[in-house]
Amino acid sequence: MSKKTVTITNNWTGKQVDLPLVEGSQGPYGIDVRPLYSELGLLAYDPGFFSTASCSSQITYIDGEEGVLQYRGYPVEQLAEQSNFLETAYLLMYGELPTLTQLSAFRTQICHHTMINESLKNFFHGFHYDAHPMAVMVGVVGSLSAFYHDSLDIRDPEHREVSAHRMIAKMPTIAAASYKHTIGEPFVYPRNDLDYCGNFLNMMFSTPCEPYPMDPLKEKALNLLFILHMDHEQNASSATVRLAGSSQANPFACIAAGIASLWGPAHGGANEAVLEMLEQIGTPERVPEFIRRAKDKEDPFRLMGFGHRVYKNYDPRARLIRKTCHEVLAQVAPDAYNPIFELALKLEELARSDDYFIERNLYPNVDFYSGIIYRALGIPNNMFTVMFAIARTVGWVSHWMEMMGDPGQRIGRPRQVYTGATERVYCPIERR
Ligand code: SDX
Repeated sequence: MSKKTVTITNNWTGKQVDLPLVEGSQGPYGIDVRPLYSELGLLAYDPGFFSTASCSSQITYIDGEEGVLQYRGYPVEQLAEQSNFLETAYLLMYGELPTLTQLSAFRTQICHHTMINESLKNFFHGFHYDAHPMAVMVGVVGSLSAFYHDSLDIRDPEHREVSAHRMIAKMPTIAAASYKHTIGEPFVYPRNDLDYCGNFLNMMFSTPCEPYPMDPLKEKALNLLFILHMDHEQNASSATVRLAGSSQANPFACIAAGIASLWGPAHGGANEAVLEMLEQIGTPERVPEFIRRAKDKEDPFRLMGFGHRVYKNYDPRARLIRKTCHEVLAQVAPDAYNPIFELALKLEELARSDDYFIERNLYPNVDFYSGIIYRALGIPNNMFTVMFAIARTVGWVSHWMEMMGDPGQRIGRPRQVYTGATERVYCPIERR
């Protein structure tokens, strides 16, 4: 059967080109536009990549119309309810759910990379106590590229794998240290007898004076949040890691680039912005005023935690997180946080009944409810995006490994449509 193609005709010159289709296992096919420039002298133009596939990938599938999210084919709802961080991290990295033996070996690998070089502590002390933890994360994670000279050959699959293990293992340690630095408490070392989420909570909240009482509900809630934040196909930060990695840059430097991109309030920084917005709104009576502002094109205010480039239906992660909010708040801190949660529910109800949001398919996204749970776990607002970064590191390293393992991998180098000045002659300053 002949290959599926799409014919593009340049009506201006009459030239035509048949472009082959790139067929996926599910979801939209792609048009391979690589011959476009050589055949028609034209570029595909798509600022913001609304209709552009930058690669093919087998890691995560999203159906934005149906509100579907699958990691390696497994619905995220099933993983969130039945799996845990390390098992799902293994699935994203290696493509299959691990056997008991594989999971045990993976856990041992990760556990034995959780410590950071003692000299790294000096980096934290170079920041003022009021530095935003995401600024600290960008700096300290980037500085890991100055270490590990034993595994810097990124053409070596084993070096790539150990770099991925090190990144997943060290993110919680660096994140907790970023927090401890802002509150002037001593860093807490990782413990290999605790699981990934329990170990992180212990590094965040225990002190030399007293141990942190482990709470299975909090660990369960954190496992769910980390699983739901782990990957999301070619989102801005994962696309950043891929582009940085395409030049064969140091993997830790690429992850630092991903952290920088995630920090923006249009992306992962939205979870912190949602809590600031809810605190600014304050009471359900003021919700209509803020919905009016979100609709006003003259007002830069947007409803943080609402809308999504791909989801034009409910973000499945937001639905699961909202459900977990009920469970966590009911047991962990009903008095302190219910008002904020009630306000979020009211905001969602009024926004979702407003034509502006309905017509634009604006639903709560992953960031709308997550901060409420983080707060109930005792995590401060300025650490919410750091939490996102810990989880998304699994997606970032999985995409980096998938890209670097592709023998056809090339440097990413987008073109542009130039609209600036045409050639002109230099004019000496005395004649300007
Ligand atoms: C994440 O890509 C990913 O997968 C990201 C992520 C992941 O897991 O990696 O899912 C995580 O980043 C979630 C998004 C978190 N960001 C926010 O919650 C910030 C608030 N949301 C928006 O800024 C916005 O919705 C984006 C950035 C999420 C999406 O922007 P798009 O796709 O460029 O959409 P757009 O800005 O073109 O909006 C379309 C219309 C516009 O109105 P019109 O020009 O058509 O009249 O919807 C309006 C926008 O003004 N709109 C909003 C709005 N979001 C979109 N209006 C008010 N409040 C909002 N939140």
